Amino acid sequence: MDLQGMKERAALRAADELVTSGMRLGLGTGSTAVFVVRRVGALLAEGRLKNIRVFATSFQTELECERLNIPHYSLNSPELGGGLDLTIDGADEVDPENRAVKGGGGALLIEKLAAYNSGRFAIVADESKLAPRLAVRFPLPVEVIPEARLSVSRALEKLGAELTLREALRKAGPVITEHGNLLLDIRFREPEEPEELEERINRIPGVVENGLFAGPGGARIRPRIYIGRGDGAVETRD
Ligand code: A5P
Repeated sequence: MDLQGMKERAALRAADELVTSGMRLGLGTGSTAVFVVRRVGALLAEGRLKNIRVFATSFQTELECERLNIPHYSLNSPELGGGLDLTIDGADEVDPENRAVKGGGGALLIEKLAAYNSGRFAIVADESKLAPRLAVRFPLPVEVIPEARLSVSRALEKLGAELTLREALRKAGPVITEHGNLLLDIRFREPEEPEELEERINRIPGVVENGLFAGPGGARIRPRIYIGRGDGAVETRD
């Protein structure tokens, strides 16, 4: 089975197992989470799900919700009241302890907001996302305010990181996030301890958020993981 098939199977399994009528639901960003969005849209259209109030974690997800007539709200709205029952999202890397790196699509800030404020959190991914250690192979994104680009870069280098400023693809210059910030993609030669790293990075002035979902400083709860395997099976891990 190809990657798309693995992503879709993991997403469908998670949506079917976890999403129930009446939920306040966080919907993630990216090429795996979009299958969850589409499943929720289809179940609503068929009347098998009712009264779902969605919080979309990015503009991309918001557009998909609009396209599928999925009702979506600000986290500050009375419909959501600052909290969610469940969030389902993708990930760039997941380690054996269900800690994750996210933000390959640049939506880490709102994705972490959703995960942190959810009663339950699930990650859907294909098996290529499994990693023995985080932030060694796939870069860890750090969102910084523009004024702090250099100062934060220096502080991260002192922590042992190699970094690049994320460049836009069809625009000259850097990626500007949905909140007007820059992204530094960082890698470590030697694996770092994820919980501690997540908190250390966020203590640097000018850092808005980083893409580690490791501990109490990130997602309040460890996610349930749905991994789509090459043989068509979906493995779950708590
Ligand atoms: C978006 O910023 C990310 O956190 C995504 O959830 C992550 O990059 C996974 O995306 P894919 O499912 O497209 O690989």
